[in-house]
Amino acid sequence: MNTFDYQFFHIAMVIIIVANLLYAANSPQNIAFKILYGLNTVFLLISGLIMIQLAGLNPADISHYPLWLWVKILCWMLITIIPPILNKRAPKLMQKISLVFILIILFAAYLGIYKI
Ligand code: HEM
Repeated sequence: MNTFDYQFFHIAMVIIIVANLLYAANSPQNIAFKILYGLNTVFLLISGLIMIQLAGLNPADISHYPLWLWVKILCWMLITIIPPILNKRAPKLMQKISLVFILIILFAAYLGIYKI
């Protein structure tokens, strides 16, 4: 696999997570989307760790992570933890605010490209 393959994998996980998030928000009882969303977030993290390696950093050496990377990891945590909880406990609210999660994803993409 070359650099483009890994970059494509990272972008593919992002696109699929947006689709998955919207499906899951509109169909909160659907067990398949719950499982797929969980798997999707794990693969997004794995692709992110590969991106860290590509950026010339050691994924295991968290003391050298720049601030933008920590903010990206925080974004990942938010979209991994909150939507499944809201889908279970407040599905109506989740439908209303799913755009907020899309904006968080957009912000993470911005950080990945501009690195500021
Ligand atoms: C929250 C969801 C995320 C989104 C929407 C996102 C999106 C992006 C995008 C669009 C890029 C630019 C791709 C490129 O230049 O080839 C990027 C780069 C990057 N991402 Fe993510 N990402 C996310 C999560 C993560 C996570 C969790 C990590 C780390 C664990 C991560 C690590 C990186 C790194 C290190 C780069 C820079 C690679 C480089 O240019 O050398 N990302 N991300």
